[in-house]
Amino acid sequence: LIAHPEISFVLQHRNIVDQEQVRAAVALRLDRTTGSIETARNFEGQKVISSFAAVPRLGWAVLVERPIEEAYEAVYGSVLRMSLLLLVGLGMALFASFFVARRIMGPLRLLGQGVERIGKGDLTYRVKLETADEIEALAQEFNKMAAALQEAYGGLEEKVAARTRELALANQKLDEASRHKSMFLASMSHELRTPLNAIIGFSEVFLDPSLKVTEQQRKQFLTDIFNSGKHLLKLVNEVLDLSKVEAGRMDLHIQAASLQETLDAAQRTMRPLAAKKNIDMRVAVGAEIAPLPMDVARIRQVLLNLLGNAIKITPDGGSVWVRANRENGQARIEVGDTGPGVPKEDCQRIFLEFQRLGNQGNGHKPEGTGLGLALARKFVELHGGKLWVESELGNGSRFIFTLPIHAADGSGGRVSRDEV
Ligand SMILES: Nc1ncnc2c1ncn2[C@@H]1O[C@H](COP(=O)(O)OP(=O)(O)O)[C@@H](O)[C@H]1O
Ligand SMILES: [Mg+2]
Repeated sequence: LIAHPEISFVLQHRNIVDQEQVRAAVALRLDRTTGSIETARNFEGQKVISSFAAVPRLGWAVLVERPIEEAYEAVYGSVLRMSLLLLVGLGMALFASFFVARRIMGPLRLLGQGVERIGKGDLTYRVKLETADEIEALAQEFNKMAAALQEAYGGLEEKVAARTRELALANQKLDEASRHKSMFLASMSHELRTPLNAIIGFSEVFLDPSLKVTEQQRKQFLTDIFNSGKHLLKLVNEVLDLSKVEAGRMDLHIQAASLQETLDAAQRTMRPLAAKKNIDMRVAVGAEIAPLPMDVARIRQVLLNLLGNAIKITPDGGSVWVRANRENGQARIEVGDTGPGVPKEDCQRIFLEFQRLGNQGNGHKPEGTGLGLALARKFVELHGGKLWVESELGNGSRFIFTLPIHAADGSGGRVSRDEV
């Protein structure tokens, strides 16, 4: 040993030839000029890293060695520092993730509970979160959704309630219609029976040879049979017309026609009847009424019925009139008489089928089917007009109906229009 930081080792003349790294250096010197060995131990037994280089001209080898601990001291230091840093980082990451988890999981749990409550049907529940982040935004969106759902649900309930009410009303109407039909059938059977019985009864008298019939009786019975037949035919025709209107299959042939002419024609038809009872009948049509869109045959039927009723009911020597003028953009036709009038409580009823009043002084119902006014009202309504009565008991009555001046779609019924 010729050099060492600890001079005492040099002075002791230490021989280090036995050392592994020295032997390696000596051995290597023969074929290489430098080398190193890391696992050797020095003479103090310390682990060392050694390097050596040959000095060929002198036949020497210079060997430098350093204890491993000392050599790696810097590396160990930085590893330690790195590890410490890593540990601190890990701790911080753990802390941060715990903190974030706490901040996110709490609100998420609240949100989850809210969703569950709303999902179970509590639509009034609102999630209350003030985290000032995406979760709060989510909760707000969710609340909006719940509100929309609540509104829709409320609307739905209302709709269902409304539909149920409509259905109940429709049901009620159906019931009424069904009851009305039954009553109609019962009344009709009743009305059919009287003239049929008359026809059968009087015919039987003629067929029974044991019954002697005078010429005057024969005439009387035949007249009764004839009148009963006519009455039956009228009844059946009116029932057919009514059922057509109700089934919406009444064909109206609407065309522009003069009201004056239609009224005059009706008056001409009824004149003999009026004359028979010495009734004064007048027709007055305002000059301002231009031709109207109407089904002349049906309006004629309405007029004949109203005039027929008036003449039938008005006592001998009374008067009946028809006045037509323009009012509120419509034609207004009034058929009035000086008859007994209609009691207030019956003003609606007489427009129903088979409803007749025994108001002709003697309490005796005059000839008729009880269908005329019902049918007349339906015909007027098909034209888009209205028919009603204004009357004071004992002071005559005025049956009034309106007709649109411009063609209107009636309330049902099939309408064909020519030259309107
Ligand atoms: N001008 C009128 N004055 C008083 N009552 C009337 C008049 N017109 C109709 N009525 C009453 O209305 C009822 C129904 O009339 P309507 O439907 O035409 O049937 P009908 O003439 O076959 O009896 C009549 O039976 C009568 O009692
Ligand atoms: Mg009548």
